[in-house]
Amino acid sequence: MNKIDTVYASRVPLYPPRVTPPPKPLNLPQSFIKFLSNPLLAIPESVYHEPLVVLRGPPAIAWVTDPALVKIVLLDRCDDFPQDPLLRRVLGPLFGNGILTSEGRDWRWQHQTVAPLFRHGEILRYVPAMVAGAESAIKAWSAAPPGSTHAIDTDMVRATYHVISNTLLAGDGALIGETMEQGAADYVAGLSWSMAYAALNLPVWLPRPGRRRMHFWESRLRAAVTGLIHARRASPNDHDDLFTRLLGAVDPETSQTMSDAQLVDNLLTFLLAGHHTIAAALTWTLYLTSRAPEWEARMLEEIRQVVPSGPVTGEHIDKLVTVQQVLTESMRLFPPLPVMSRYAAEDVELAGEHIKAGTLIGLPIYVIHRHRKLWDNPDRFDPSRFAQGRDVGYSRYQFMPFGVGPRICIGAAFALIEATAMLATLIRAARFESPPGQEPIPVSRVVLLPKGGMPMRVTMRHGARH
Ligand code: HEM
Repeated sequence: MNKIDTVYASRVPLYPPRVTPPPKPLNLPQSFIKFLSNPLLAIPESVYHEPLVVLRGPPAIAWVTDPALVKIVLLDRCDDFPQDPLLRRVLGPLFGNGILTSEGRDWRWQHQTVAPLFRHGEILRYVPAMVAGAESAIKAWSAAPPGSTHAIDTDMVRATYHVISNTLLAGDGALIGETMEQGAADYVAGLSWSMAYAALNLPVWLPRPGRRRMHFWESRLRAAVTGLIHARRASPNDHDDLFTRLLGAVDPETSQTMSDAQLVDNLLTFLLAGHHTIAAALTWTLYLTSRAPEWEARMLEEIRQVVPSGPVTGEHIDKLVTVQQVLTESMRLFPPLPVMSRYAAEDVELAGEHIKAGTLIGLPIYVIHRHRKLWDNPDRFDPSRFAQGRDVGYSRYQFMPFGVGPRICIGAAFALIEATAMLATLIRAARFESPPGQEPIPVSRVVLLPKGGMPMRVTMRHGARH
């Protein structure tokens, strides 16, 4: 028996770390503290096994987890449950009136204009840039002494920024790479306070830590992207990047193109939403891979079969079935965006419960993905639940890392293709080991991050291309 066979034979069920929910709903001060430290800890235990939990508050929140109710909120009656104004309050100063933070007509035309650029077939052309992102990390690890420990979470943020910068802006994004990295880190630190204030409906003017830094970064990041737009307008080129296509995009109804302000809003949205999320997905997947050698071996076998030599290309993506299965299970347990929200525009009835106008509607993807009534052995890492032919049983309102309904993530195809191409490239090149006994707890910082980071030992595989 070789090493891989031994591993296949010893299938130890893997239960990766999870948050421990409070047994009962929290009061206002407790909720505030949890919102600051880890909003997932403010979601009571009952939400994990009930279809709907309405907390009269304060804070008034209705947690919706049942797939039929999720469908009502996000699709059938989505006009009665609009985007939570708190999202605009918190993110509006940074993302302006872009596709993520706008509503109604403003949103519709931007969505219609941009959606065709993000279709699966269009995105496949960017696979070489995605592989190059993974190779940038591999190159850095290869230069370090063999078996060194690296901050995988940070490395994945850099590698995925490399990708978004090259696909969106043909590399121009590198010019503002440092500003983006530092700005995003500082911004997210202040964001916890803004989110906690907003969730508990505290007044905007109330002083809070990090507010000035956030203002500073709002103008700095917007100025950096404005600079890129001006530079591109001053010397146009024929780069085949998303930005060029965004410049030429026309609203099919009105023939309108995007103003500079809308370009800044959307470029910044894509630059930020388009890399931290994928970085989180890759970070958690590499961690899970290190704890489940059986799946590492299966992926490696598949990658070597599908891509015997040369880099991963667009043609390989759909054939990397096991790699996608592992990614899917990883995004079930650790959804990069763990909580979505809406609000009740008017008094409504939901599953026989009266919900007052203004109530926050929480759609906790993290909890839906681990709901006791929806999943068999919900906390267990088991990619075979998504084996071809078996996944037909899961409703799209039950497994929903990209949301659902008209506001489903516009970058979903981009993200899946990128994560597949990068994971295959990374796994083929190196082995990742997480220090034993260090189990990273998931913490929601808009994106789901490992508390304390994700240090891992990286060892290059013999004969791997890098
Ligand atoms: C694994 C990676 C990703 C995950 C898990 C993810 C998740 C999500 C989710 C759950 C939503 C819905 C939010 C809501 O309805 O409230 C969303 C929306 C959005 N995402 Fe993603 N996302 C990912 C990658 C990307 C990428 C790569 C881009 C762009 C390049 C992107 C851009 C957007 C935008 C613009 C929206 C707003 C869409 C709208 O409101 O019409 N995302 N994302």
